[in-house]
Amino acid sequence: MLPPLDESSAPHQPWGLFRDWYEAARPLHPPEPDAMALATVGADGRPSARIVLLKQFDDEGLVFHTHYDSRKGEDLGHHPVAALLFYWPAQLRQVRIEGSVSRLESEASDAYFKTRPRDSQIGAWASPQSRPLQGREELDGRLDRYSARFAGQTIPRPPHWGGYRLLPLRFEFWQARPNRLHDRLLYQRRADQSWSLERLAP
Ligand SMILES: Cc1cc2nc3c(=O)[nH]c(=O)nc-3n(C[C@H](O)[C@H](O)[C@H](O)COP(=O)(O)O)c2cc1C
Repeated sequence: MLPPLDESSAPHQPWGLFRDWYEAARPLHPPEPDAMALATVGADGRPSARIVLLKQFDDEGLVFHTHYDSRKGEDLGHHPVAALLFYWPAQLRQVRIEGSVSRLESEASDAYFKTRPRDSQIGAWASPQSRPLQGREELDGRLDRYSARFAGQTIPRPPHWGGYRLLPLRFEFWQARPNRLHDRLLYQRRADQSWSLERLAP
């Protein structure tokens, strides 16, 4: 069990604490230490969640990449808000983050797309993410067609694929303690961009 979370010694804003926890968690959580649950709200008001990979974060927000026409992309078009959840079982830690979501600038999405392996780049063109397929053959056929189309060329980023950035309004850090009397520290962003900090009951 890790040391307790103490609001009297906690930083005044959450980013440094998040970075410390994230960097401590990464080596302990192979093979996908950057996996986080992303929850969105559909046009019908119903929630859905799936795992995506955290690709970058700083004071501007947390970035993930996906298909803009996917179910999550459609959800974010209707309701540009989301929740992210990290669970790090090796340390018995959880971080919940909620906020508003916007598309990454196209130059930033282009730059990230260029770093992806060629097969993943072709996959981004070939997979109509979240749409029904007739069968695996349909996907394989699309992969073959896009491989032929881009043979010998640099593959551009598809217009339907790119990044999103979540700008947090709430960060909650949860650390297990004995007897289920866990520590929970909640940071909430104020209108003047400073952060309030309070302890929540477990
Ligand atoms: C470990 C892991 C990492 C994933 N990373 C991503 C990702 O970064 N981007 C993405 O679009 N889907 C990723 N997926 C797939 C999503 O969970 C999901 O199946 C897909 O995005 C379609 O979701 P949607 O239909 O709700 O839009 C990942 C799945 C797993 C299990």
